[in-house]
Amino acid sequence: MSLDGIRKAVLNVKPYVPGKTTEEVICEKGLSHVIKLGSNENPYGPFPAALESMKKELVKLNTYPDVSFREIKVVISDIYGLKAKNVCISHGAEGMLQTLGKVFIESGDEVLIPSATYPLYTEISSLMGADILTVPMKDDFYLDMDSIRKAVSPRTKLIWLNNPNNPTGTMFRKENLDKLLEEIPSTCWVVLDEAYAEFADQEKLPDISAYIEKGKNIVSIRTFSKAYALAGARIGYALCREEIAVIIDTVSEPFNANRVGIAGALATLQKDMKQCAEAISKIRDERTKLFRSFTEVGLDPVQSQSNFIFVTTPFDAQVVSERLLDRGIIIRPCSGWGYSRSIRVTVGTPDENSLFLQELAFVLDSLRKDD
Ligand SMILES: Cc1ncc(COP(=O)(O)O)c(C=O)c1O
Repeated sequence: MSLDGIRKAVLNVKPYVPGKTTEEVICEKGLSHVIKLGSNENPYGPFPAALESMKKELVKLNTYPDVSFREIKVVISDIYGLKAKNVCISHGAEGMLQTLGKVFIESGDEVLIPSATYPLYTEISSLMGADILTVPMKDDFYLDMDSIRKAVSPRTKLIWLNNPNNPTGTMFRKENLDKLLEEIPSTCWVVLDEAYAEFADQEKLPDISAYIEKGKNIVSIRTFSKAYALAGARIGYALCREEIAVIIDTVSEPFNANRVGIAGALATLQKDMKQCAEAISKIRDERTKLFRSFTEVGLDPVQSQSNFIFVTTPFDAQVVSERLLDRGIIIRPCSGWGYSRSIRVTVGTPDENSLFLQELAFVLDSLRKDD
């Protein structure tokens, strides 16, 4: 069949490979119980008020949501000491990333992308016809902010940064972002994807509100999919200067978030923050324990500021992942990022984590015997 007429940029885009779902694995492997530690979801939600509010919203699904998303924009802006006009709502952080690609990238523009980061930045940039300059990681696992700064040219339109970074879980020092924003030309923009920021030491995060108030060329993206435990509700948002927010809202399709998702997100922020903070605290505690368990068995984890841990084993990551999958555990091999022996594991509940560690020990043992 002919693909004549399809844009070249579209044909060049490699499909995004999402983590496997529990349903897929149950079906493929004929298992009755599966633990999903592959998509960095929050196992403790949705939180109670969000659930209640989403249920109540169902009867209104015959009508469109408020196209201006006024109420949730006000609540979000209050958290950051900004104005509602500094907030844009989207269908997940992914929806916002797509919109930002459309807002900033002309065909032939140069964009900078760290070599091991969230793959959607490359997909969106390719789709928009950008020239992608890949900046290697520093010491394997860290965004190299000095090299990124040095790589900026008059042709650089967009710099995609993820902090904490997926898949490594590392953060850059905020002083390095200050420097970058001081130096970039007025035609260059930073997209700062902070999807996992709530799991990080808060004092290490850059002050996005201060940047916005100073008129810096930055758009920060956040999501309700991770800390707020609403991945299925698909709500994300951006924080930026007012005049950019108007452009983002113009480019986004109208009604780009649904009633039920907005109701859940709003209720989480207004009524569930105690439960949410407790969940974050449990995840951070479990992250410390998981890290320690990895080192105790001689593996090489990277200190994480996120709700997942990147860890290197002595064996091929695809093989380790497949064998874990056979035993009902979904994790992410990091081979696609160039780390042939590393995996990314979401921090689950204490029970999930101990079962994972038990199965991992079994798999590594069996691989040692095969060697
Ligand atoms: C770095 C990063 N940004 C964005 C997203 C997408 O988030 P959302 O579910 O809000 O679309 C993810 C999802 O895993 C992510 O890891």
